[in-house]
Amino acid sequence: MAITCHYGDRVEFAAGAGRRRQDEVYRAGVYGRRPLVPTAARALQARAKQALNARAYSYVAGGAGDEATQRANRAAFDRWAVVPRVLRDVSSRDTSVELFGRRLPGPLLLGPVGALELVHREADLAVARAAAAAGVPMVFSNQASVAMEDCAAVMGEAPRWFQLYWSTSDELVESLVGRAEAAGCDALVVTLDTTMLGWRPRDLDEGHLPFALGKGIAQYTSDPVFRQLVEKRAVAAEPRGPQPRPTLAAVQALVGMARAWPGPLVENLRSPLPRAAVETFLGIYSRPSITWSDLAWLRSRTRLPILLKGVLHADDARRALDEGMDGVVVSTHGGRQVDRSIAALDALPDVVAAVDDRAPVLLDSGVRSGADVFTAVALGARAVLLGRPFAWGLALAGEDGVAQVIADVLGEFDLTLGLTGHTAVDQLSPDVLRRVA
Ligand SMILES: Cc1cc2nc3c(=O)[nH]c(=O)nc-3n(C[C@H](O)[C@H](O)[C@H](O)COP(=O)(O)O)c2cc1C
Repeated sequence: MAITCHYGDRVEFAAGAGRRRQDEVYRAGVYGRRPLVPTAARALQARAKQALNARAYSYVAGGAGDEATQRANRAAFDRWAVVPRVLRDVSSRDTSVELFGRRLPGPLLLGPVGALELVHREADLAVARAAAAAGVPMVFSNQASVAMEDCAAVMGEAPRWFQLYWSTSDELVESLVGRAEAAGCDALVVTLDTTMLGWRPRDLDEGHLPFALGKGIAQYTSDPVFRQLVEKRAVAAEPRGPQPRPTLAAVQALVGMARAWPGPLVENLRSPLPRAAVETFLGIYSRPSITWSDLAWLRSRTRLPILLKGVLHADDARRALDEGMDGVVVSTHGGRQVDRSIAALDALPDVVAAVDDRAPVLLDSGVRSGADVFTAVALGARAVLLGRPFAWGLALAGEDGVAQVIADVLGEFDLTLGLTGHTAVDQLSPDVLRRVA
């Protein structure tokens, strides 16, 4: 698929993404070709549902409890309407924004999404290539399926960030942060809403946690500190008593764990290390005891800007900046953590007011289109993180699918900007919206 945006010409890309994307699609249509994946989020998800197995689909689509937060995230967008203005010469538009010293093609990043190997063999690597080609920052997940160094290696100078889960091992946290710096990450995103996994009925009913099968733990198995912890654990492990008869699922799980551990599969199948890696991960991946007082420790260990993800209260946002943080991401984790949470977009205005331009406020949860990006930016988000839609694009068409989702969202954002009478992102404010419910 020929998407004409490459990192090198991202400024040109910024200056007319919508028209160019439409041209490409309609010209190809003359020859009977259709877009590789659906261009609207709802159809994209429906197609991905058909393509994926039930466990993989449920893992990505699912949320906490009754999934009221997911519905609230979407309903919050529906309560705002854009009020277009006319006769304002919008022939030339610039969708670019600056974030931490980088000019980006639009107010868009790819958020951290873990365990992508569930939906596509190339997982994060395909996403990294697509993000780099578009110049859109990719936030490497702490639960990625591909080590950050391998993703960075295919991205050239393109922007990337790292998302951290605060492990119970400070040494591991330091190691991950050091690796993120070495891999050229521009910022750290510390996710605070997942100190424990939320109550997720779809996964519970499938008895399915990807990490327990060795999926989504590549940042760990590639980490020298983590590997030392695994080796210690394997040595210390008690000889095991009689085991239950292995089921097919258990054998498949063991093979999955063996694949996740570096080295030849045949050796790993005989080694206690892959299994010890999963056990070690489950024991240390997050620390529910973290408090504000831990932030100074992290601040003193990195020169990178730090953003806190999962902030939904104005007081927390204010406190984050007082503690030396460089930004916040207003997020409900896509409704995967707390059911009946306030929607991210509903929380945004208070957080923006509290931050009062001292630092960038980003938003995710429920962003499905360029019009959604427009709405969030008008309400004060400096940029938004795309989540599930790019995972669906990946599921359906790998790197090209992600590339198309990025091009479609940025394309629609560009057209919405122009069609509402604007030529630059900094012209947006709550004045361009009306609350309709
Ligand atoms: C399958 C899946 C895996 C995710 N993994 C992570 C993760 O590893 N780290 C993280 O901070 N957020 C993770 N998130 C949350 C996203 O970063 C983001 O907050 C969320 O997807 C936004 O909601 P939306 O996709 O409905 O727009 C994940 C989300 C999904 C759907």
